[in-house]
This record gives sequence, structure tokens and C-alpha cells, in this order.
Amino acid sequence: MAEAERVQPGDAIHVKPGEITVNRYGPLARANHWITAAALILLAVSGLALFDPSLFFLTALFGGGQNTRALHPWFGVVLFVSFYVFFLQLWRANLPTRTDVKWVSQIGDVISGNEEKLPEVGKYNAGQKFIFWAMAGLIVVLIATGLMVWEAYFAEYVPIPTQRAALLTHAIAAVLIICVFILHVYAGIWTRGTLRAMTKGTVTGGWAYRHHRKWLRQLVGARKVDPAE
Ligand code: HEM
Repeated sequence: MAEAERVQPGDAIHVKPGEITVNRYGPLARANHWITAAALILLAVSGLALFDPSLFFLTALFGGGQNTRALHPWFGVVLFVSFYVFFLQLWRANLPTRTDVKWVSQIGDVISGNEEKLPEVGKYNAGQKFIFWAMAGLIVVLIATGLMVWEAYFAEYVPIPTQRAALLTHAIAAVLIICVFILHVYAGIWTRGTLRAMTKGTVTGGWAYRHHRKWLRQLVGARKVDPAE
């Protein structure tokens, strides 16, 4: 497939006097992302509250133990639906490429900020793709095991030994997704100028040139450039 065809529909370069910006996420994708983020945070806090007696005090945030137990699975349904609506918009751009192997093999240069030594990167680098697929996989595990232990609706259909295994798997997947979440937020803050992609929807031309040069070239190649306004 030609490079230009891989460009995502809303992505485009805007040239204004003294400033070049690049559209990275439209308003719907951003709303989708922040609903997903809110759902995961609510899930992590309510889940930790139920996980260990020392964290039970967190149930006060949800109106007590009973309410926390009742709400937690519904937050999970919101996360699952919201994440997978987001997933449908992004999965293609997150497919692995040969550049990713090279990028990972040069992880030392990534950490020490020697970006000029790295291969040119498309819309997402291998680290972003790892987070994307890790979240996608862990959310499936969490919803599947969560449904198995959702006493109010499904637990009577699941034998107790299976429920025990499901609960253990659920807890392990939850710890892993919290780690992935921390990594994601850290990377977003560490790479300066990234957060505005998810707040304003745009990044600067300099950011795109420095971190995702191949993506920028693809946009130019596809003539996704608005002239000066
Ligand atoms: C306070 C929490 C969060 C912050 C500050 C945050 C920040 C960001 C930022 C800045 C981007 C744009 C990165 C880029 O395009 O280069 C992004 C993308 C993304 N975020 Fe988050 N995020 C948060 C929570 C979450 C959660 C909870 C999830 C999923 C469970 C999530 C999933 C994603 C995905 C899938 C992308 C697209 C990147 C890709 O496809 O590789 N984010 N986030």
C-alpha cells in the first residue's frame, strides 16, 4: 500500500504566519480518549478499594462498600466500550513495522534522547504501539474475567473453581494495566509537547519533525497541507 494511503483521515498540516501545527486527534477521538482515561482511573481506585482491607477507606469515594462493589463492573463496561471505539480508529496506525524492530534495538538512544540516530518514525513509535496493544489485550482479559465473577448477573453460570482462577487473573491483569497506564502518562509528559495532542488535538510542526518525521513526510506526500490562512 502506498505511503500516502496510510494517512489517517483527520491528520493534516496547517501553515499559519509564524506557526505550523499538525492535526493529530479530532474532537471525537479526544472525547473518546478522556472518557477511557476517566473510566480506567475510576476502575483502578474502586478496584484497589476492594482488593485489600488496607485500601478499603477508598470506598468512601463511591458512597461505601456496597456502592463500590456495584459500580466497579459498570465502570469496566464503560472502559471496554470506550476503549474499543477508540481502538477501531487507531489499530491500523499501530500495526508493527520493520522500523519498530530497529527502534527497539536502539532503545538506549531513545532513553538518552539521541533521536537523530533513530530511524524516522511514522504516527506512532514502537513504545506507543506496545502501550496500545498491551492495553487492548489487558482490557479483554479484564472484561472477560470480570464478567465471570459479576455475581449479580453471571456468576451463577460459572463454577466456583473457575471463578477463583478468573479473579486471580483479573487481579494480575489489573496490576499490569496500572503499570502500563503509569508508563503511558509518564511518556506523555516526558516527551514535551505531546499532551497538547490530546488536549488541543494538534502538535507543533517541530514536534512532528523531531519525533514522527515519517508521519510528517506522509502528510506532505498526501498533500494534507492547508496553505497560510
Ligand atoms: C490521565 C491519564 C492519561 C493521559 C494524561 C493520557 C495522555 C495521552 C496523550 C498525550 C496521548 C497522545 C499521544 C500521541 O499521540 O503521541 C494519548 C494517546 C493515547 N492514550 Fe492516553 N492518556 C491517559 C490515559 C489513558 C488511558 C487510561 C488509556 C487506555 C486505557 C489511554 C490510551 C491511549 C491510547 C490508546 C492512545 C493513542 C496512542 C496510540 O495509539 O499509540 N490513555 N494519551
